[in-house]
Amino acid sequence: MKIFIDTANVEEIKQANDLGVLDGVTTNPTLLSREKNNPKKQLEAICKIVNGPVSAEVIALDALGMVREADDLCKISGNIVIKIPITTEGLKATKILSTKGIKTNLTLCFSPLQALLAAKAGAGYVSPFVGRLDDVSTEGLNLVADIKLIYGNYGISTEIIVASIRSPMHVLEAARIGADIATIPFKVITQLLKHPLTDIGIERFLNDWDNLKRTER
Ligand code: G3P
Repeated sequence: MKIFIDTANVEEIKQANDLGVLDGVTTNPTLLSREKNNPKKQLEAICKIVNGPVSAEVIALDALGMVREADDLCKISGNIVIKIPITTEGLKATKILSTKGIKTNLTLCFSPLQALLAAKAGAGYVSPFVGRLDDVSTEGLNLVADIKLIYGNYGISTEIIVASIRSPMHVLEAARIGADIATIPFKVITQLLKHPLTDIGIERFLNDWDNLKRTER
């Protein structure tokens, strides 16, 4: 499973990239608004850090407006992927952009049939939001499993990005289901690595090493 980071913060992206596990970045208007920088400049800075795909979302609600914005965002860098909400206009824009060879990430996906339509319109990626479904007492990961099953039934190549991840358990289950990608907030990436037995183990090894050195003296 590929790992993307779900943030627009350059420091977080640098730190995750240094871990050697980062395959890409997803941003959204909320995440970019937290950075207090011109969004295009921020995206440019992000694209300089990572080699993989960087999702940048359109704001327009009409298909032609989305396509115009996409053309503009693509000028930032070759690794920009256009993030588009799954709506009627979003599907039209996806079709136009896929014909032009521009890769899209269809976002705010809350149903398997939305994901099927996204794929048929030519989406490169689809982003089911698991955490936001959990928030309304619906098992978000069931959506990922359904999309995986449907895409498998028809040999669909659209990649599933598990988004709105809130905990390491979301990541574990995404991997069990066989999702292509998990886009993970920085805090959760750091949690993935932590295990108390690893820390205790290191402490014990170092203590035993010190004891050995002391007896050697
Ligand atoms: O980037 C889209 C998605 O991951 C947002 O997550 O936590 O705002 O539901 P969240």
